[in-house]
Amino acid sequence: MSKLKILTIDGPSASGKGSLSRNIAKHLGFKILDSGLLYRTYAYFSQSGSNIEEISNRIKNEISFSFNENDVSILHKDKDITSLLRSETTAKIASELSALPKTREDLLTIQRDFYNQEGLVADGRDMGTVVFPKAALKIFLTASPEVRAKRRHLELQKRGQEVNMLDLIADIELRDMKDRTRTLSPLIPAEDSVVIDSSNMSIDEVLSFTKKLTKKEFNK
Ligand code: C5P
Repeated sequence: MSKLKILTIDGPSASGKGSLSRNIAKHLGFKILDSGLLYRTYAYFSQSGSNIEEISNRIKNEISFSFNENDVSILHKDKDITSLLRSETTAKIASELSALPKTREDLLTIQRDFYNQEGLVADGRDMGTVVFPKAALKIFLTASPEVRAKRRHLELQKRGQEVNMLDLIADIELRDMKDRTRTLSPLIPAEDSVVIDSSNMSIDEVLSFTKKLTKKEFNK
C-alpha cells in the first residue's frame, strides 16, 4: 500500500490537536487541514438558513482560511467569522450535524482536496480512519476531560469568552460521548496510530515526541 505524505492528528475536543498541528506543520513545511473548523463552518451556514445542498458549495466558494503561527482565521467573503465559529454554541451544532451521513459525505471531498504532494497535517476525529486511511503517520492525541476543559477554558478566555468550568467539563464529556458512539466515523484511534496521552505533558513535550516520529517517517 503506497502511503501518502500526510500526518493525521485525531483526538477529542481540546486535546491540543490544534496547536500541535500548527507547530508540526510549520516544522515540516506541510499544509494544514483543520477539519473541525470545516464542520463548524458547515454549522454556521446551516444557522444562517442555507439548505444542506447549498452548504458545501458555499464552503468551497465563499470561505478562505488564513493560517499564522498561533491560529487560523476564517473569512466569509470579507467578514472574519473565526470567533463565531470557535464558540461553544457553534461547536454543539457542528457536533449534531456531524453525525448526519449527508454532512460527512459533503465534507469528504472538500477535506481530501486539501492534500497535495507538498504534504499535509490533517487534524480531526476521523482523519486516520476514514478521510486519509493511507496517511504515512497517524497520531491519536488525548488527555483527561478535566485537563482538556482547563485548556479550553484558557483558550476561550484569551478570546474574551467567559464560560463556567463545570458547564465546560459537562459539554466536553457530552460531545466526546456523542463523537465516540456515533455510527458514522466514530472517534476512535486508527489501528496503526500512535496514541499520545498528553494529560501530564506540556505542549513542548508533545511536540518534541511528535518530531521524533516525523523524523523517522518524513526524515524531518
Ligand atoms: O475539533 P472541533 O472541536 O473544532 O470540532 C467540532 C465538532 O465537529 C466536533 O465535536 C465533532 O463533532 C465534529 N468533527 C467531526 N469530525 C472531524 C472533525 C470535527 O465529526 N473530523
